[in-house]
Amino acid sequence: MVSVLSLKGGVGKTSVTLGLAGAAAAQKLRCVVVDLDPQGNATTVLAPDGVRFTANDVLTGDRPVAIGDALAVSGWGEPVRVLAGEPALERRNNPADGPPGRHHVRAALAGLRDADLVLIDCPPSLAELTRNALAASDTALVVTEPTAFALAGAQQALDAVDAVRSAHNLRLRPAGIVVNRFRAGAAEHRYRLDELIAAYRDLVIDPVLPERSAISRAQGAGVPVQRWPSPGAREVGRIFAGYLTLLLSASRAGAGPFSKGVSR
Ligand SMILES: Nc1ncnc2c1ncn2[C@@H]1O[C@H](COP(=O)(O)OP(=O)(O)O)[C@@H](O)[C@H]1O
Ligand SMILES: [Mg+2]
Repeated sequence: MVSVLSLKGGVGKTSVTLGLAGAAAAQKLRCVVVDLDPQGNATTVLAPDGVRFTANDVLTGDRPVAIGDALAVSGWGEPVRVLAGEPALERRNNPADGPPGRHHVRAALAGLRDADLVLIDCPPSLAELTRNALAASDTALVVTEPTAFALAGAQQALDAVDAVRSAHNLRLRPAGIVVNRFRAGAAEHRYRLDELIAAYRDLVIDPVLPERSAISRAQGAGVPVQRWPSPGAREVGRIFAGYLTLLLSASRAGAGPFSKGVSR
């Protein structure tokens, strides 16, 4: 179980989640996408069929719906199933409104153990829902853009991982930092990437994820980028396949950052 998280929105959590789901589907792996973002962007792109219950219903304190009853097959086909997001999840991000206990989320998602890969697309903050997701996960994948506050944002995300790890979930490991929307020609991007590598060497995943219009176009069309016909799509398709391999070997090894030993 992998949480995909970041300090803020718009950096590519959903795109990375969907790219990994597409890579898993291409390999016929059984994958579940848990959409914990009240905006439900992953749900929109995955267009699951016949959603009766959402992640919000599964996390309801008093009478939760069983996860098996809430999963729906995605429009991408049988291997990818979805626990849908919905706006009502927003309430669960606020502790004052009585968020589900961290162990409750873990219990709610425990029924997903038969999947080869569970990806949790977190909301755009490090608040309660993201911490709940971390409490249920084996690994955490941090996403950031190579811009001015990337270092501080990544640090806060890693601090959240550490805090949940020591308080609630000793299995949890940071899987790495995906640097997204990288433009090789942008001096600022190169500078910020070097800064991240200097701070977190082994955690910065190689290669970075470049800015490619195929990513947003495939999302707009509701298909995996792996099925989008363009050179850019093939390029990011290869990159996501590599991320998936690293992620799966990290969960099998059960420890440590997974970018170790990858050439840079
Ligand atoms: N590498 C990329 N290249 C081009 N567009 C991207 C890339 N990554 C994300 N986007 C686009 O940027 C927007 C925000 O990305 P998204 O994955 O939804 O971020 P988040 O889930 O962190 O809010 C989306 O419209 C998405 O299609
Ligand atoms: Mg998102």
